[in-house]
Amino acid sequence: MATQRTFSIIKPDAVKKGVLGQIADRFEQNGLKIVAMKMIQMSQAQAEEFYAEHKERPFFGELVDFMTSGPCVVQVLEGENAILKNRELMGATNPNNADAGTIRHDFCLPVEDLSANAVHGSDGEEAAAREISFFFNSDELVTRV
Ligand code: CMP
Repeated sequence: MATQRTFSIIKPDAVKKGVLGQIADRFEQNGLKIVAMKMIQMSQAQAEEFYAEHKERPFFGELVDFMTSGPCVVQVLEGENAILKNRELMGATNPNNADAGTIRHDFCLPVEDLSANAVHGSDGEEAAAREISFFFNSDELVTRV
């Protein structure tokens, strides 16, 4: 498997809890290098467009409200099999179903709101390319050795 890049968000709940450093550490300790990173406050228009594939889902409004409720950290992770590795590190979307040792298990329990699941990660190559370019210009991505 060649080196891949994937897109990641450390969501407002994790930033508010003060665990963004611990989450970034999980990536770095598991072979994912951070090649772009910035803290942003997502606008309503950005959140609606980013999550457009979910717009017919009943939770869409709550998801947009949550993602705009506070700062989050958007980042690009690079490594062998980065897309799958990141998803394994995150754990199941519903933290109640996430394995012990995953980010969502370790930082989201007890669950109050499924939108507040600490992290987002691209679910495939097409999504990774779209999501990276949604938040980053190519000159914001660095080369790491
Ligand atoms: P994320 O990877 O950011 O992609 C879409 C998000 O919708 C998901 O993580 C969850 O945080 C959020 N969400 C809120 N409610 C639900 C739900 N009922 N089922 C799935 N995802 C949900």
